[in-house]
Amino acid sequence: MLIRRCAMLYFEAREDVEFDLALLVAGGTGLARTQRCLALAPHLEQPVEIDATAQAWLAQLSPVEWTEVEDGSDTAAQAAPLLQEGLIFRHDAPVTSHAVREASLRESYWHPLAAVMHAFSRWEGVDAVRNMQESQTETAAQMRQTLGPPPAEASTRWAQDGRELPLVQDDGFDELLASRVTCRNFDGSRAVPLELFAKTLQRTFGATGAYRVGEDLVFLKKNVPSGGGLHPTEAYLVVQNVEGLDPGLYHYRGDQHRIDPVAGPVTLNRDWVMDMLGQQHWFADAHVLVVLASRFDRTFWKYRRHAKSYRVVTLEAGHLSQTLYLSATKVGMGAFITAAINEKAIERAFSLDPVTDGVLAVCGFGWRAATMTTTELDPAGVIWNLEDRAG
Ligand SMILES: Cc1cc2nc3c(=O)[nH]c(=O)nc-3n(C[C@H](O)[C@H](O)[C@H](O)COP(=O)(O)O)c2cc1C
Repeated sequence: MLIRRCAMLYFEAREDVEFDLALLVAGGTGLARTQRCLALAPHLEQPVEIDATAQAWLAQLSPVEWTEVEDGSDTAAQAAPLLQEGLIFRHDAPVTSHAVREASLRESYWHPLAAVMHAFSRWEGVDAVRNMQESQTETAAQMRQTLGPPPAEASTRWAQDGRELPLVQDDGFDELLASRVTCRNFDGSRAVPLELFAKTLQRTFGATGAYRVGEDLVFLKKNVPSGGGLHPTEAYLVVQNVEGLDPGLYHYRGDQHRIDPVAGPVTLNRDWVMDMLGQQHWFADAHVLVVLASRFDRTFWKYRRHAKSYRVVTLEAGHLSQTLYLSATKVGMGAFITAAINEKAIERAFSLDPVTDGVLAVCGFGWRAATMTTTELDPAGVIWNLEDRAG
């Protein structure tokens, strides 16, 4: 048979540490340490544990040239589990889902390190709230207790011979910036008017112009900066409470300022929303949730296998989020962003292939509730008067 290995492959030397009472009783630290080697291939859903022999063998196998292996030989026996796992492929094998995803990555212009990072930072079924509770990092006091002292709130490294700068006079823009407080308390009892919904999307994701170069190259102008001017990030919407709109999943088209329903396997309900938000119930009542999903292939078209291209795309998500916050704040609504999300559930719902369309974060906006149930960071009381605080 003819075989070759997958094109993108890294090995991770991982040490697992477990508590073992017997070791403690025997006078040791009580910690059992085991070493293992994991093969990280971004077309696979999970890292694959391999032994040192397999690692050495994989490392010398070409990802391009097909290598002849005699059926029934020792090498064929060694290859069998790796074929099964999807780390190597046979030339004459039927097309599997592993092979399809591997071929798609092979044809893409992902930088391999970024591809691994993206593939293995996606969550499935994670309960971020429970994780914080279990790790004793839920409240500020717990964090300090569990994690010890943090690095200082500002760097003091160059704190000498400097000078203080004049404070700027407050104007309307400062007021807007100061009112941007991450909203964790939404008022589900009243819908967001269609006009405010449209305005917020237009200001954040809408195109304000287009520069056409020939037949098929168009640069959109938007209110946010974008690496290479390519604007790869799409807004997928979970509309929950907007006047005149059926609750459901939509895609916002920035070049035409329109929304289109997304047909998919998901029926919008509370459980699904909680799952996508990693069980962060404080965001689940937001009138509109906005999935930031970047079309990597558009940015990587220009920045091919570039060490910075993934970073550029993720930085753009931050710009979009801040613009969304400010656009919502400007019309009296609250907004948020979270990266503690179950990307895989979102990918399935919107039919997004993570090789080309990467879910990076979920934002949201809507009316603020009248009382604060979940803590928000508003020390100056710009949004919340102290007597409103519930906890
Ligand atoms: C990239 C990013 C991810 C965040 N993820 C979460 C999150 O998972 N859950 C949450 O409640 N807040 C999240 N936040 C909001 C921050 O907690 C918040 O910005 C911070 O506490 C400062 O408060 P402020 O935004 O009101 O100034 C995130 C913010 C950013 C920029």
